[in-house]
Formats: sequence, structure tokens, C-alpha cells
Amino acid sequence: MEWTREKRYLKYKDWDAQTLLNLQTQAATSAYQMHYHVHPLSGLINDPNGFSYYNGEYHLFCQSYPFGPVHGVKSWIHFASPDMVHWRYLGQAINPDSDVDNAGAYSGSGFVHDGQLLLAYTGNHRDENWVRTPYQVIARMDKNNKIVKDTDPIILPPEHVTEHFRDPQLFEHNGKYYIILGAQDKETKSGKIDIYKSDDLKNWHEVGYLDFSNENMGYMIECPNLVFVNDQPVLIFCPQGLDKKIADYDNIYPNMYLIGKNIDLAKAKFTPVQKAPKNLDDGFDVYATQAFNAPDGNAYAISWVGLPDCTYPTDNENWANTYSQVKRLEVKDNKLYQHPLKAIESLRMDHVAYSNQAHLTDHASSQYELKLSIKRNQAGKLVLNADTSMQTGLVLDFKTGDSSRLIIDRSNVGPKVNPDYGEQREVLLDPNKDLDLDIFVDGSLCEIFINNGAHVATLRFFADPENQTISFDHDIDYDADFWKMMPIM
Ligand code: FRU
Repeated sequence: MEWTREKRYLKYKDWDAQTLLNLQTQAATSAYQMHYHVHPLSGLINDPNGFSYYNGEYHLFCQSYPFGPVHGVKSWIHFASPDMVHWRYLGQAINPDSDVDNAGAYSGSGFVHDGQLLLAYTGNHRDENWVRTPYQVIARMDKNNKIVKDTDPIILPPEHVTEHFRDPQLFEHNGKYYIILGAQDKETKSGKIDIYKSDDLKNWHEVGYLDFSNENMGYMIECPNLVFVNDQPVLIFCPQGLDKKIADYDNIYPNMYLIGKNIDLAKAKFTPVQKAPKNLDDGFDVYATQAFNAPDGNAYAISWVGLPDCTYPTDNENWANTYSQVKRLEVKDNKLYQHPLKAIESLRMDHVAYSNQAHLTDHASSQYELKLSIKRNQAGKLVLNADTSMQTGLVLDFKTGDSSRLIIDRSNVGPKVNPDYGEQREVLLDPNKDLDLDIFVDGSLCEIFINNGAHVATLRFFADPENQTISFDHDIDYDADFWKMMPIM
């Protein structure tokens, strides 16, 4: 089936219910589906949106195209949760059914104000000649989860940006309201973060581009996101076309961050503690991470596990992509750590402890957590989701000595995933330490928390579901705990 533009932009009301039901069944019954992570009910999901705490629950919205594995006309779908682990699906939230968002309700954020959850998003408007105008729009959700869009956009694109001006994050800082947006400067065609300010959430004035680096940040910045972590500002963003000499990365587009000494939003100045941005994730597939400051004092982040302009093996099952688990952020000694939530432990069942034996199991199941401490001064391979003869599998090749490192190799585990961007990722580790790994596997998703969240590597891999062997390639000195994980939905 060919995904022509006409087809991708067909109005939602022009699709029939049976087609949608078939797509939902196909996604739900796929052997590669996730069962304890937010995943598509049908079609494609991309960026997390509106991640927030409102009315006694956590809320999460997702960019969604429900009718196929393509970036068609986007809407927001809604999930809510008491603990950011058990999510329930609440259906379509913002549909592309107004003039301002006729070609998609694009990414944005959630902000609680006056008893409502304000959802700031980009209305992707296209005229009859397919010329795009990005409008920044507010939709309001009440305590019954009913969402109504404001009639007028709050921000029109300024003269000095191209049509690439989107992904508003709305927040309050020092008694003023701010919106930061991803932008492409018209004159230099370079990626920027633009700041707007308001006293009343109605009248918005441009402050200007955020000064956060002396380097050129590529041709576009998507999904800029500012959070405060242990009192330090952390800027998360997706620079497209970034020169690898400025900051190295392997994915088609990186999701990066900078930790700040401080930020003066009114003066549009962010002073970073480090020179170059760093990859937020050391794996293959993380993009568009959204974090927010929750009322409990923590900053939480969730990532799209998928990349723009890439394809995945489930495209031929008509669905695509998934989300990471929610990660709690921490800054210590000017370093960023990402931790699994305590609440995810509530999914653990069937505990088994292992120690030093090379072979762990042939029946790991498709949903498990494996937590290991590999003692220092060793080298070897841990193979996950292998066949019993260990001919194929996801390989974690480690060395824990003076030049400690972990190589994650997905070259020999089922159908290839975007091999043009490499099939291995290397994480350099603190030398002469034990290697602590907390590995979460859910269907075709793997998340590896390394050394207590000093690194996270997230990836998709498409092992034959029958292949459930976990084994080292030889005897290794380690301790491990293994659990099967319960489904959440
Ligand atoms: C990032 C992105 C955003 C945009 C959204 C559209 O993945 O391109 O910039 O708002 O996806 O779905």
C-alpha cells in the first residue's frame, strides 16, 4: 500500500471504524509489542507531549498517527497514571480538526494553572498550496479530562524564522510565564531556541533566541525542554544536522542535554557547566525526550523510542515505535543521572538470583528485568534473547579494567534496524569499578541503566520471540537478580 500525501492527510472522520479495529488488533497481537511500556494502540507514536501532574494523577500525551506506521496527520492521545508505571489509555485528546491544526496537532507541553491543565501545542497549518504556518495554540483540560481548544493562537511565527517553529514548552519561572520553542532562523538557516514571556498567559512577547552555546547547533532544534534538577537548569533538546565535531553522536539526529550553572530567561542566557552538549541516551533509538518538574520535587523524563526519518521492522505490521519507561533525573557533581522509578519494582515477579554461572536461563520470557553487578577486571559477553546455541542474540560486550567500556551490538539479532547508522554503540565507563547493569526487556525494547544511571542505553531489537536464552560466553564473576515483569495494560 502506498502512503501518498492524500492518504496521510485524509481526515480522521474519513477512515472507517473497522479499519481502525483491525489496526488495533494487529498492534495488540504483535509478537514484538511492549507490555509494560506506553506503546501505540494502532499506527505510529512519536514525541511525548504534555507530561504533567494534574488533578491527583500523572498525565502523558503522545504524538500519534492512528492509521498506519507513517508520519501522517498527527493528533495527541492521552494516558493517565497514579505512579507513572501503570498507565491507562484515555483515548484521543487533541484532534487535527481545526483550521489552525488542519495538518497536525504537533508537539507541546502541559502546565497546570487555575484548576486547568493547559496544553500548549503547535497547530501545523497548511493552506491549499501546501504552504505551512506553525501556530502556537492552547487547549484546556478540566478535571473530567475534557479538552477544549482556545479559538485564537497565542503566538504567530515571527518574521525572522522559517516555517520550522514549533514544540512550545510552557512554564512559570520567577513569577513570569515563559514559552520556549524550537526554531530555524530564516537568515542563517540554523537551529535556535526562541523564548516568549507573558505576565498573564494571554499576551506574549518575544524575548529572543536563548544564548546557550557559542557553537552552531545545526539547521533545526526540535523539542527544547528546560527542567530544574537538584536546583540546576538542564536543557534537553534535539539538534538536527549538528556537526559531529561539536558533539559526537551516531543516531540520525541526537537527543542532547546541557547542564547549566544558571539561567536568566528574561535575558535569554543559559550558562552551561560543560562545553559541548552530551547524548542523553547512549543507545540507538531515543529522541524527543520530555521532562517536567513534578510537585513531589523530582524531575521526570520520558522518551520516544524511535527516530524521525527512520523505519522499523514492525512497519509491515502497520504499527511503529514505543516509549521508554519514566526516568527520574538527578544532577550530582555536575553530572546527569537517570534512574528507574521505585514504582516499576511493583511489576516484578518470579524472582531468581544468579551468581557466577555462565548460563542463566533458556526461558527468560519477553518481559523481564535483569539486574547485575559484574566484578571489576573482567571481559566477556553477555548475550540476551539468544537462541539456545547462542548463534544470535543481543550482545553486551564488556570490559571492566583500566579502560572500562560496554559495547552494545544489535548486528546479529533478528531483522536489521537502520544499519546505516551503525549496529554497535560504545559506552565508556569509569575505570576500575564493578559494572552495574539494570536491564529491562519488554518485547522489542531494551533499556540498560549503567552504573546507577550514569548512562542509559535504549534500543529496539527484533529477536525471534522463541529466543529466550540469557548467557555469558564464559564464566564470569557476578551477582544477578532476575524477575519476569507484569503487563500494565
Ligand atoms: C519531533 C517532531 C516535532 C514535531 C512533531 C510532529 O519528532 O518533528 O518537532 O512537533 O515531531 O509529530
